[in-house]
Amino acid sequence: MNSLSTSSPASRFSSVRPAPITGPFTYPGRRALITGASSGIGESFARVLAARGMNLILVARAEDKLRALATELSASHGIHAEVMPTDLGQDGAARALWGRCEARGLEVDLLINNAGFATYAPFESSPLAREHEQVMLNVTALMDLSHLALPGMLARGEGGIINVASTAGYQPVPYMAVYGATKAFVLSFTEALWAENRERGVRVLALCPGPVETPFFDVVGTRSVAVGVMMTSEQVVLAGLRGLEQGRPSLVAGWRNWLQANLARLSPRALTVKIAAGMMKPRRPLQLAGS
Ligand SMILES: NC(=O)c1ccc[n+]([C@@H]2O[C@H](COP(=O)([O-])OP(=O)(O)OC[C@H]3O[C@@H](n4cnc5c(N)ncnc54)[C@H](OP(=O)(O)O)[C@@H]3O)[C@@H](O)[C@H]2O)c1
Repeated sequence: MNSLSTSSPASRFSSVRPAPITGPFTYPGRRALITGASSGIGESFARVLAARGMNLILVARAEDKLRALATELSASHGIHAEVMPTDLGQDGAARALWGRCEARGLEVDLLINNAGFATYAPFESSPLAREHEQVMLNVTALMDLSHLALPGMLARGEGGIINVASTAGYQPVPYMAVYGATKAFVLSFTEALWAENRERGVRVLALCPGPVETPFFDVVGTRSVAVGVMMTSEQVVLAGLRGLEQGRPSLVAGWRNWLQANLARLSPRALTVKIAAGMMKPRRPLQLAGS
């Protein structure tokens, strides 16, 4: 027997009866780890979950913003909020973060893998280092944290993971080729985990927003890529938590965004990607981040 199979709680016989994955999720007194909590959708998750009585572990790079949010939410809701500044675009960062949580005895009941960014440019002209960082953050860190969090949840027979994908995961996205592919990974990976864990008490949801009013587009460098119906980050978060309570594998926020995402899946792939290229093609020279 190797050391992994003896040390992993998931591999041990457990007498814990798995909780149902549909119905209310118990928030008060439990703990959520939220990546990308310093702005946008992640910050809204922190606000909504704190109001429901959850303790928080807030993760992003901007330590000052995380500290201000933790102080505010602890004071207004009487919860405990830990701040763990981390650059999840670096190899091994997710494992180091998890190690810090374990060292402090912080169990995670709800993992929200939300941190992510997009680049917008013809693929070959975007700096390779930036594309690499995008895959590390949107894919590798999300996969690592899911892998690290699941065994404890399974041992307890309950828990939840929300992975923030996008309607961009439903079809290829020319000029955001890497972003669309990372979100297709998140959607596929998460739905597979849902099926693996639905009878073991752990809820797993891919939350797929269309465009959301956040600083995301400042990072992209343009708002012209916002295809679909714009929503607020709070609307998206509330939709995601409803999806978690319904025990769904994935959820597109907003019915018009749902229609758009699924129409793209039904039409021939070559046609879909040609239409997408026409919509996404940059109309003027781009200022490339990281170049
Ligand atoms: N806004 C939209 O239209 C939209 C639509 C569909 C899906 N999404 C997805 O929603 C998620 C959240 O995006 P948002 O709209 O809320 O954008 P946002 O406001 O730009 O938030 C992104 C968050 O990710 C964090 N982050 C970025 N790089 C990081 C790194 N290397 N390590 C750790 N944290 C990092 C940022 O914090 P720091 O900069 O402080 O690190 C920030 O908290 C992303 O996965 C995005 O792909 C957004």
